[in-house]
Amino acid sequence: MAELKESIAQHYHERTKYEPQTITSKNKVLDWKQQPVSFKEYKLGRSYDLKPYLQEQAGTETDASYRTWQRLSRLLFCSYGLTARMSTVTGSFLYLRSAPSAGGLYPAEVYVVSRGTPQLPAGLYNYQALTHSLVNFWQDEVWSGLQGACFQHPMLENTELAIVITAVFYRSAWRYEDRAYRRIFLDTGHLLGNIELACAIHDYRPHLIGGFADQAVNQLLYLEPEQEGAIAVIPLADLLDEEQYLPPASTVLPSATQAEYPQIPDGELLGYLHRATQITEPQEWKVELTAPKTQSDKYNFPFCEKISTQTAPIEWGNHLEDLEQTLIKRRSTRAYSGADLTLAELKALLDFTYQPQNYVEQALDGSPDYFSLNLIETFIAVSGVTDLDEGCYYYAPKAQELRQIRFKNFRKELHFLCLGQELGRDAGAVLFHTADLQSAVAQYGDRVYRYLHMDAGHLGQRLNLAAIHLGMGVSGIGGFFDNQVNEVLGIPADEAVLYITTLGRPR
Ligand SMILES: Cc1cc2nc3c(=O)[nH]c(=O)nc-3n(C[C@H](O)[C@H](O)[C@H](O)COP(=O)(O)O)c2cc1C
Repeated sequence: MAELKESIAQHYHERTKYEPQTITSKNKVLDWKQQPVSFKEYKLGRSYDLKPYLQEQAGTETDASYRTWQRLSRLLFCSYGLTARMSTVTGSFLYLRSAPSAGGLYPAEVYVVSRGTPQLPAGLYNYQALTHSLVNFWQDEVWSGLQGACFQHPMLENTELAIVITAVFYRSAWRYEDRAYRRIFLDTGHLLGNIELACAIHDYRPHLIGGFADQAVNQLLYLEPEQEGAIAVIPLADLLDEEQYLPPASTVLPSATQAEYPQIPDGELLGYLHRATQITEPQEWKVELTAPKTQSDKYNFPFCEKISTQTAPIEWGNHLEDLEQTLIKRRSTRAYSGADLTLAELKALLDFTYQPQNYVEQALDGSPDYFSLNLIETFIAVSGVTDLDEGCYYYAPKAQELRQIRFKNFRKELHFLCLGQELGRDAGAVLFHTADLQSAVAQYGDRVYRYLHMDAGHLGQRLNLAAIHLGMGVSGIGGFFDNQVNEVLGIPADEAVLYITTLGRPR
């Protein structure tokens, strides 16, 4: 039988794999003085200061307008606000945000589109994280343009505000070159995780839209498409307005699958893939476009050890105040001591991340939007968890159990697989998100590559927040020896590794 030709997304994935033989030659020396700025500036536009709304102010309890501002201000701050400042070797400051970002490069920009509300006149706003303000750089009716660009997505019918996330590609490509595309979408997934949870705290329901006419959204926002591109549109239903209660809708549309492409030189692959995964033809939203939920987990191994992960949910405070605090104080752990985690902690992390239905009583969404979550699988390498054998496990989210696939202490191997990063060696558990790229592309075209990485990042952010809340250490890892992860840990070869999350005791 003739072999199927790789689509462009599969080709990109193969070409951007790190290999032990080539990694050092690929490591370029970085001139930190040339690092692109991770903030966008607008010369013109009215600025709306959001800082006064971060603190509670006496006498504002019954002021509806103040409350609305406060909800928006806190939503943006918890999602992408500046939450720490560090000095760098060049004497400048590095600002860290509530969402993590590979290398602290923050390629994502956040925009707010208003249909016209008492607080925000119709138009376009950019979130200025540096000053925690919104700059209104375009005043006019833009909502119908957004609806058209999103092929009349039902969630834009009754809503009045939408967040649009874009990526400024060079901010990340400067350091990570072509492989930056993966990290840009993982970063955005983390940001989506924050938006999802911060919305729940502040009475909004975010609806994800991953399928839109890229060119039309880019034009609407006045972007330079070679430098910056829209990657997610998120209408915000205001839950204080019953008119805006909307049943869940589909979040994704397929793109073409490109199997014929020229020889693409290194350095041009990222831009090529981004263009190839755009939606260029008009499409229609079907009532139920997402694949029906399967009842069983993908992998079962007849004689393997199975450990139930069912547990009591994490408590986030009476009014989710502990969740809000966690969003603001989250940091990536820089070193682990090597000490064990407990099985109870691991179960709690898995419960919060994969079992959102257990959090409805705490006013969180029991079924938050993802793009193509049913295509993602989870494997966990356990090096130090009390009451759990060392080895590699498949996490079966429907059965809520860990299924052991290899017995071994992998610390040394994990150190190597994570490109020599000690975080991999000293973690108590290292979690891998994977997907079968070939069948994913068959389902949604090459654009699925974006969806998969955003969903993996979104899951990663829930793991981050749960870990921080429970006093554990956590860090994402976007650089790893792709093929060797599968070989060493026994993860099926068809499963492309998307992302790693390390968990451990902070040193
Ligand atoms: C997609 C992604 C990949 C990352 N990869 C690594 C990594 O390989 N090694 C590492 O030490 N940290 C990694 N991090 C953590 C970032 O370095 C960290 O988020 C950034 O420095 C900002 O700090 P903060 O998370 O404390 O806000 C990654 C984070 C993300 C979101």
